Amino acid sequence: MNLIIKNGTVINAGGRYVTDVAVSGGKITAVEKDIAPGEHDRQTKIVDASGLLVLPGAVDVHTHFELPIGDIWSADDFFAGTRAAACGGVTTIMDFVTPEKNEGLLEALKKRKKTADAKACIDYGLHMGISGLNDCVLPETAEVKAGLNDRLLAEMAEVKAAGVSSFKVFMTYASRLTVDELRRTLARAREINALMMVHAEDHEALEANRAVFIASGKTDVWHHYLSRPEAVEAKAVEKAVDLAKETGAKLYIVHLACAEGLKAVEIAQREGYPIYAETCPQYLNFTNEVYKRPDGRNFVCSPPMKGEESQSALWESVCQGDGKTGDSGKTGDRPLSYSNGRIRQGSVPCLTAVPCLTVPCLTVAAPIGINTLATDHCPFQTFEKDRGIGDFTKTPNGVMGVENLYPYMLSEANKGRLTFERVIELCSANPARIFGCEAKGAIAEGFDADIVLYDQTKDFTVSQKNMHSEVDYTIWEGTKLRGYPVRVYSRGKLIYKNGEFLGKPGHGRFIAT
Ligand code: URP
Ligand code: ZN
Ligand code: ZN
Repeated sequence: MNLIIKNGTVINAGGRYVTDVAVSGGKITAVEKDIAPGEHDRQTKIVDASGLLVLPGAVDVHTHFELPIGDIWSADDFFAGTRAAACGGVTTIMDFVTPEKNEGLLEALKKRKKTADAKACIDYGLHMGISGLNDCVLPETAEVKAGLNDRLLAEMAEVKAAGVSSFKVFMTYASRLTVDELRRTLARAREINALMMVHAEDHEALEANRAVFIASGKTDVWHHYLSRPEAVEAKAVEKAVDLAKETGAKLYIVHLACAEGLKAVEIAQREGYPIYAETCPQYLNFTNEVYKRPDGRNFVCSPPMKGEESQSALWESVCQGDGKTGDSGKTGDRPLSYSNGRIRQGSVPCLTAVPCLTVPCLTVAAPIGINTLATDHCPFQTFEKDRGIGDFTKTPNGVMGVENLYPYMLSEANKGRLTFERVIELCSANPARIFGCEAKGAIAEGFDADIVLYDQTKDFTVSQKNMHSEVDYTIWEGTKLRGYPVRVYSRGKLIYKNGEFLGKPGHGRFIAT
């Protein structure tokens, strides 16, 4: 054994128990009381976790590290991004492959993996971007000029075989798909049993709004919100849901931020369709009021933060999953025990109406509404955000959050708004299950030793100065948190301790999904 974590309160999505955790070779080898090192295990490190929570590391399935946007790049590369993630208790991230024009999907995947392998400090997976402008390998044909080509759709199966089983498309931005292209891509995803992630905003509607505002000199950042209000997002979500129903594809709506869109997702989920929804901490903590602030452009992301009604609907969904609204602090008398991805004893029955995607029965709450929390971490430096001064359309889109997601949600649990179990379900167990990260998302025998020790008594105020991203400001500045991670392990290696990053680039491994 390399490590024994003693007497902590282990919490999984399905329950909690005061127990010990043994780690060997990067894996959790036992979760039971009174584990002692073997007679010959002189090297075993023993960590006393009395009074601490022992949690699975978060799985943030939506980051944009070193993403090129026109002539600039998102602020964090794979090193700085995964360093920030680790310091916030995120032990797995999933990022994107964005093929260039005329570049094959597999070629782009190889390049992205090479970049990430050298720099990632925690394990990572990838999603493949599918773009209408991506000419793939047939640049000159009329079919390609007309948009998405069949060779690209064919290559999706090879991408899946190479370990990337989720694909991402946009309904807006220059790389958007047309409705017909989206239908064809969803149909292809259904054929190869892949998951389709969709950024849903109605491009025509928001472009029309922007044109009117710019023409009439309404260029301040409040008009970023007004050009992409609730209805713009809801209409696109409804369209994506309709197309998923029509094609039978598994659909995952990224960064859902509006009440009406959530309603459309919930209706489809109740009908039994394999449709999932992610929201982000920025939509829970902020409303569109931020766009009235002098530094409003720093909050520019798409979809934008919405009004209070949407914020309340998102919170209601986030809190409802386990039927409880606050943390009871009750510790169970039997451990949740997982073996080969199945709950063995002391477990809550699986209530999922939609079958879990890869490992059955790890999710214990009904999957209606928001299923995951992820960050959409895509920050830009202040001087880059300043491009939006005098014209909101010039602001690069995206905000930070990979270091804030888990501490913020755990703090909300610590304050009694929802249970720790539900936070773990949304931030760790569900994303791991939905995206096929089979060894992640639980403190259980056989799982990777991705472990967060959390001190409920440690107060923490977020500041750019105590974050580990390369970006020179944070939208979370001044946020007061109750409780904070004090140690983070990635496959048994200590990578964060009391504010200090201890990880190394290249430690992170690619996870085939
Ligand atoms: O504004 C955002 N969300 N930027 C990142 C790219 C995306 O749309 O997810
Ligand atoms: Zn997006
Ligand atoms: Zn994104």
